[in-house]
Amino acid sequence: MIMLPRKILIWVHLFLLICPNLFLLSNSKLDSYSYLAAKKKRMSEKVRKMFYHAYDNYMMHAFPHDELKPLTKEFTDSLTELGNLKLEHQPEHYNGSALSLIESLSSLVILGNFTEFEKGVSWLSENLTFDVDARINLFECNIRVLGGLVSAHILATDSTNRLVQGTYKNQLLDLAEDLGRRFLRAFDTPTGLPYAWINLKYGVMENETTETSTSGCGSLILEMGALSRLTGDPRFEYAALRALRKLWSMRSSLNLLGTTLDVVTGEWIEYSAGIGAGVDSFYEYLIKAYILFGRDEFWRMFQSAYIAVQKYFRYGPWYHEADMRTGKPTYWQLTSLQAFWPGLQVLVGDVPAANLSHREFYHIWNKFGVLPERYLLDHQMLHPTEKYYPLRPELVESTFYLYQATKDPWYIEVGESIMDSLNLYTKVEGGYASIRDVTTMQLEDHQHSFFLSETCKYLYLLFDGTFLVNHNYIFTTEGHPLPILSSWQERFPDTYNSNNWTSTKYEKQVKRLSAMSMQVCPATTLNHGQDERVESACHVLDSRADHRCFDDDDCGVDSSNCRRRSCSMAGYCGQWLVT
Ligand SMILES: *[C@@H]1O[C@H](CO)[C@@H](O)[C@H](O)[C@H]1NC(C)=O
Ligand SMILES: *[C@@H]1O[C@H](CO)[C@@H](O)[C@H](O)[C@H]1NC(C)=O
Ligand SMILES: *[C@@H]1O[C@H](CO)[C@@H](O)[C@H](O)[C@H]1NC(C)=O
Ligand SMILES: *[C@@H]1O[C@H](CO)[C@@H](O)[C@H](O)[C@H]1NC(C)=O
Ligand SMILES: *[C@@H]1O[C@H](CO)[C@@H](O)[C@H](O)[C@H]1NC(C)=O
Ligand SMILES: *[C@@H]1O[C@H](CO)[C@@H](O)[C@H](O)[C@H]1NC(C)=O
Repeated sequence: MIMLPRKILIWVHLFLLICPNLFLLSNSKLDSYSYLAAKKKRMSEKVRKMFYHAYDNYMMHAFPHDELKPLTKEFTDSLTELGNLKLEHQPEHYNGSALSLIESLSSLVILGNFTEFEKGVSWLSENLTFDVDARINLFECNIRVLGGLVSAHILATDSTNRLVQGTYKNQLLDLAEDLGRRFLRAFDTPTGLPYAWINLKYGVMENETTETSTSGCGSLILEMGALSRLTGDPRFEYAALRALRKLWSMRSSLNLLGTTLDVVTGEWIEYSAGIGAGVDSFYEYLIKAYILFGRDEFWRMFQSAYIAVQKYFRYGPWYHEADMRTGKPTYWQLTSLQAFWPGLQVLVGDVPAANLSHREFYHIWNKFGVLPERYLLDHQMLHPTEKYYPLRPELVESTFYLYQATKDPWYIEVGESIMDSLNLYTKVEGGYASIRDVTTMQLEDHQHSFFLSETCKYLYLLFDGTFLVNHNYIFTTEGHPLPILSSWQERFPDTYNSNNWTSTKYEKQVKRLSAMSMQVCPATTLNHGQDERVESACHVLDSRADHRCFDDDDCGVDSSNCRRRSCSMAGYCGQWLVT
């Protein structure tokens, strides 16, 4: 294992481990201009104000209900509405779960407000219960509530002693465990794939729909895995792992997955998929699960899945959808959720490709002032109905990752411009409102909880990365930090038995912190024949920094188009000879 300077962030860190000689970017490039430092300080103060404007209004007008309606200064008990487009089966007596408070806890810690964090923790300890007659979406409840609680528990108990000594007795973990047990009932299906919906009090309802999404089955492993590691009860991790494995076994021969499926029959319902809604966090959780738990299995899945995405969905900087069976393009649409992808590419080390796509998303942001939910790439126009912008974080999230990897001050400018747009278009007296139509900037009376857990957090971390210094974290898809611990990098048995959860023991093995370094870069096997398209999950540098070469073997792979560069007559690596 190579020695690395401290103070660099985990993704850079990991990538140096995966591809030590391929990482182009200098992490020692400090912010050399004090004006940049001063600007970042100013910006971070502005974000702090944004967060408190959103948070204080929630606490004043909506808490302990789920989310704030900033225009009317009212509340909505929206946990039961998340993902529920037709608003079916709404409970009569559900009074909220303080969702926005749970989502704010890790942000409060990052902002350094431990007193408010502590207040929140003690309120939840005493007053939160999941024994409520509420039908919730497993995916949403997992990333927002379980993830929020698990992350806050870790932040409350880590060595920084943020809470008054002795006041914290794992209450958040107890709540998380209680919630996790309720989740387990969703996994009781012939396939092990979980139902999309459960009633927190009564479990899966009679006649419940068996349809779910790829994200719904494949984005549980971080939170449920962390819960197992923290409680010592392996059932959560097993359930999530089993579902993920089943899902992966349903991939096509092209290594593509669809968007929706049936949890009882294990058959696909919607064969078209991309990297946006319904699928996005499946990819994200494969790589992040690998980082968090160090299982090679996750890396192998991720690598195949990532390569398939680059091969079948990518068109220049854009990603369209394709049919999982044929790889043929289906929808040429940009969706705002896709904007997380450049951030994921930074984790993988594919920085040039990330930069390229990020610029295109930012271009669309600039065109409208914010990112519309759906944009038709083939017609260069907005989708006729999905013109909204619900304060989504994905673009600023990617901006944050790219800045961490490159320290290019341009990304600070991007962050500033995003922040200014948010304040210009969405700030109202009672908080931050969603945009219903980006052509008119008409507002909608809803402040989503992810504005607190993600949008404000990533903006703040872009300008002030203090929280990350000397700590290695990954962020869940809802922006909740989980620490990378060597004690979690242990192997679980490959076999599991859903009928006898409790019998399976952790199989402690030698810690394998260097798992990453044992991975080879996937782009090294090149086909020298006619097909010059290289399946590349990370770029390969030319052998010389000045790009001089004697023959093709001196040239690397261009990650922005997955093509191998070749050596020109004049002795430079380039793409001109590639047909
Ligand atoms: C929710 O609030 C209403 C009105 O305050 C109250 O009547 C009802 O009992 C509450 N429901 C529960 C489950 O606490
Ligand atoms: C923490 O948050 C509370 C509630 O917004 C606020 O009153 C307090 O001033 C904050 N403390 C710090 C140190 O920012
Ligand atoms: C629990 O809720 C009640 C009613 O809102 C409140 O009076 C009490 O202070 C809360 N507990 C804590 C620890 O905040
Ligand atoms: C479930 O569906 C069946 C058939 O449609 C129906 O007869 C039954 O009443 C339903 N049960 C409930 C609890 O809705
Ligand atoms: C990102 O792209 C821009 C424009 O193509 C380029 O000038 C810049 O150097 C790129 N940055 C990185 C880190 O690749
Ligand atoms: C569960 O596993 C334990 C230990 O392997 C075994 O003793 C027990 O009989 C098993 N229970 C069932 C129901 O299979």
